[in-house]
Amino acid sequence: MRYVSMGQVPQKRHVQFRDPEAQSQNGKAPLLVEEVLGYEGFSGNESIVYHLFSPCRVQDVGEFTPIVLEEWVPDTHVHRLTNTMPLEAFGDPYLGRRVLQYNGDVEIGMCIPESQGEYFFRDGEGDEVIFVHEGEGVVETIFGELPYGKFDYIVIPRGTTYRFRFDTPQRWLTIYTPGEIETPNRYRNRYGQLLEHAPFSQRDFKPPAELNTHRERGRYDLKVRVRGGYQDYVLDYHPFDAIGWDGYVYPYTFNILDFEPKAGRLHQPPPAHQTFQGPNFVVCSFCPRMLDWDPEAIVLPYHHSNLQSEEMIYYVDGQFGSRKGVNIGAITLHPSGLPHGPQPGLVEKSIGVTRTEELAVMVDTFKPLKLTTLSRDLDDPQYAYSWFEAEGEETATTVT
Ligand SMILES: [Fe+2]
Repeated sequence: MRYVSMGQVPQKRHVQFRDPEAQSQNGKAPLLVEEVLGYEGFSGNESIVYHLFSPCRVQDVGEFTPIVLEEWVPDTHVHRLTNTMPLEAFGDPYLGRRVLQYNGDVEIGMCIPESQGEYFFRDGEGDEVIFVHEGEGVVETIFGELPYGKFDYIVIPRGTTYRFRFDTPQRWLTIYTPGEIETPNRYRNRYGQLLEHAPFSQRDFKPPAELNTHRERGRYDLKVRVRGGYQDYVLDYHPFDAIGWDGYVYPYTFNILDFEPKAGRLHQPPPAHQTFQGPNFVVCSFCPRMLDWDPEAIVLPYHHSNLQSEEMIYYVDGQFGSRKGVNIGAITLHPSGLPHGPQPGLVEKSIGVTRTEELAVMVDTFKPLKLTTLSRDLDDPQYAYSWFEAEGEETATTVT
């Protein structure tokens, strides 16, 4: 990320900085409270926030509620299709996230919140990516107000106190990691600036648009995800009390249609679509694009075996050329140990096609994904047979 500064910050770090709007008390306005939010101790990226109140201040400590994921261990090891479209609105933007697939590196789920929730939230020990399939609104945060819309990735670093505000229906793919969400190192020069060949530039990453300092007092509920559960607190001040901040850690949006897709004379592998990385997983964006232009090219993916990874794809929009019977809102999971590729007939049908309108988000994990009972409830057991054709019914050479 690049350096951003919002609101008022002093000329130097770690110096006296007083509330510029407060009435003078005995000739001096109250000192502001400086908070450094940094990764990797004091060696990673950081931001410095100037608060009206100590961020340690709590009026009451509420309940701790452990997170319980109900694992589904299927009887068989096969390719899976999970149809998320029947899911109905449920919960709020935080507790309404329903995990479908997970391991120690990442949790992937859906959230269709039925309400905004009347409390503030903070992920204390993990980074979050929310892909907005449907909906628009604002994420109000300690770093300012972050507007978002359809097809945005919203990236929220740990330590960010926030809440969602929206008045339209929402449908999100949610990704949580105890690790760090980053853009790939290979897109950056040695100073961290994005390179010319990167599929996005600094301009495509949108930080908060506006910082509003809240001076209100009252009762404010805060829920913090930490230690495998949610800890509730009560504050006696509005948690968005920042006068200013600066640094490299802040929430941002990146719209998937700002990803500049790569095309080639012959087929480009999935790393060409990579958008983010986390520990032992990547996030890729499949966007509308020109297809491979060699007259002999096969424009669909070749069959491949995920020898060290599992491939999860969420289908967002358009028609996905390499999948038959997979509709918008579906998730396919091609687990390790099994090869996968286009269904019969699709390769022949694709020859000569010059463009794809597909839009999808892929998460490839390097370690196996576990499934939840919600995956079981939404599972389409026929998908495993979608490459099978009874003798005499092969379509591979008959489709024109
Ligand atoms: Fe694949």
